[in-house]
Amino acid sequence: MQSNAAGLNTDARESAAFAVQGGATLSVEELESYRLKGWVGSYPLFTPEGVSRACRVRERVAAAFTWPNQLAQAGDPQIFARRPWFKSMHAYVPEYYDAVCHPAVVGRVASILGPDVIAWGLTLIRAVPGNVHRWHVDVEHRHWDGVSVYIGLENITPESSLLVMEGSQNIVDPPQAFGPIADDTGALNAARSRVPGAEIVTVGLQPGQFFLFAGRLWHGSHNTGDQVRVAMIAHYSRPDARIRIPLSFDDPVRWHGWQPPCILVSGRDTAGVNRLVARPHREVQA
Ligand SMILES: [Fe+2]
Repeated sequence: MQSNAAGLNTDARESAAFAVQGGATLSVEELESYRLKGWVGSYPLFTPEGVSRACRVRERVAAAFTWPNQLAQAGDPQIFARRPWFKSMHAYVPEYYDAVCHPAVVGRVASILGPDVIAWGLTLIRAVPGNVHRWHVDVEHRHWDGVSVYIGLENITPESSLLVMEGSQNIVDPPQAFGPIADDTGALNAARSRVPGAEIVTVGLQPGQFFLFAGRLWHGSHNTGDQVRVAMIAHYSRPDARIRIPLSFDDPVRWHGWQPPCILVSGRDTAGVNRLVARPHREVQA
C-alpha cells in the first residue's frame, strides 16, 4: 500500500476511480465480432466518481497541452517539449496513466494486438452541442496499425456518442478519398461501394464504459444533444510501430520530428523505436 505526498492512500483512490479491479481478455466470440465489425464492447471501467475526477483533471491540465488548433506553432522543434501533444496526456497525468494501463482495457487490447503493447496516445475530447467531427480514420492509424479505445465520460447519449461504420476497417482508403462527404448517408454510400454490408452504428455506452475499435475503422460524431459531451480516447499499437506526431490530417501528411512519449503497457519492447516513459510523479502544470 502506498501513500502520496498529500497523505492520501493511493490504492484507495484508485479503487474509488475504477469500477473493476481485475483484468479481462476477449473471448473467441468477441474476437470474431471485432474482426467482422471492427469494434467490440461495451465494458465497465470508471465509477461515477472516477468519471467526475477524470473530467475535473482535464479542466486543470488542458491548457498545458498543444491542441490541433495550435499546430500552426509546430514549426518550433521544441514546441512539444514545452507544451506536450494533446494525445500525450497519459504520460503527464497520473490518473490518465492509470486508466491507459488498466488491466481491464490492456488485457482486451492484447487479445487483439498480441502480448507486446504500447499506449501511444490518450486524450479527452470535449464536444459542445452542434459539434461535428467528420467521418474519418485517425491519421496516425492510417500510417501504423493499432486499436483505439473510446471511454464515455460525461453526457454520453445516443445523440452525442461516437458513430462507427461497421465493416469499414478493411477499406484501404479513408472516407476523404471518396470525395466530399456531406453527411452520414454520403459516408454510408462511400463505405458500401467497397463493403456492401457496411452499417452505421451508435455504440451504446453508459458513462464510465468503453469499447474498442480497429485503428482503421471509419468513425465520426455529431453532438445533436444539448450538453457538452466528454470522452476519453486511448490508442494502442505494437511496440515496433514508430509513433509520430502529425501536423496535418489529409494527404500529404506533415510530421513533426518530436518523438511523443509512449508507455509499455504489456509485454516487452524489443524494437526500441519509440521513447518509453514511466508513470508521471505528478500532474503537469498548466
Ligand atoms: Fe478519430
